[in-house]
Amino acid sequence: MTAIRGYVAPTTESDALGVHSLDRFVLAVPDAHVAQEFYGNFGLDVRTEGNALAIKTFGHEHRWGSVVEGAKTKALHHLSFGCYAEDIARLKARIEGNGVKLIDPPPGFESNGIWFRNHENVLIEIKVGPKVSPDGKSASQWTSAPPGTAGAATRQNWPPVRPRRLSHVLTFTRDIDVSIQFYERNLGLRLSDRSADLVAFMHGIHGSDHHMLALVKSSAPGFHHCSWDVVSINDIGLGAMRMADKGWTKGWGLGRHVLGSNYFHYVRDPWGSFSEYSCDIDYIPKEECWPAADHKPEDSFYLWGPDVPPEFTINYEGGEG
Ligand SMILES: [Fe+2]
Repeated sequence: MTAIRGYVAPTTESDALGVHSLDRFVLAVPDAHVAQEFYGNFGLDVRTEGNALAIKTFGHEHRWGSVVEGAKTKALHHLSFGCYAEDIARLKARIEGNGVKLIDPPPGFESNGIWFRNHENVLIEIKVGPKVSPDGKSASQWTSAPPGTAGAATRQNWPPVRPRRLSHVLTFTRDIDVSIQFYERNLGLRLSDRSADLVAFMHGIHGSDHHMLALVKSSAPGFHHCSWDVVSINDIGLGAMRMADKGWTKGWGLGRHVLGSNYFHYVRDPWGSFSEYSCDIDYIPKEECWPAADHKPEDSFYLWGPDVPPEFTINYEGGEG
């Protein structure tokens, strides 16, 4: 078992147990080159490593995402969550105690982790790894040029936008309540906020963004979007503009969410799901008990922004497209 230093007790509850990070999302796609082009243009550091594309952020060694080739259509291959070495045995015992069957890792993903499927057959790994969820709220830049100077450079002189880290993923689920219960009971995630039986947001007990995993109701499980933290609203706009210049014109934004509070722009990816530029998402410290609430749908999706495009919630993995 890999020993990872840096254990931090969760919350003020000595017996609380849970993963500390969303370590990685893994997609299976028909053509990895398409994925490489899309995520590369998005501002990510995409390289071939082993049997997969590794999606990293520049200046950060962590592999936030992987893309494997071979699927007929895009599909969520699995989600991998990170925990402290001190917690893996207790997490394993709890998961087995809940009646969840542990299984072998899929070929090419052998690891020190534990593997299982959720109630909708979504493959999940929990492994010992570094805490890659932030330990505090990520600083954002809100700059204003002093009088007598120009605040904006010419377009050609702006450096490419480079997201700092993965913030969260949103997955489709048939049943929000059952999914919340699964991730609470087995991974120790906690509900941050929800809106009826339509959407829910879950955070980690060791301190994380308002959500490391979000859930949206659909007719089948699947992958809706990955979200990448950028330093400013300006970077959201620049990223969206760069993607449009490269031909990735569809999406949704600029806007601001209510639940999580982040500013956003979603770029539609080659498979009908999305990649989100996100800035200033709420943070839930490990010492805080976030007052999870059920919000009215008409008052909780976004504070401002353009109308939601009709294809935004189509689940192409569920055969809706
Ligand atoms: Fe998001």
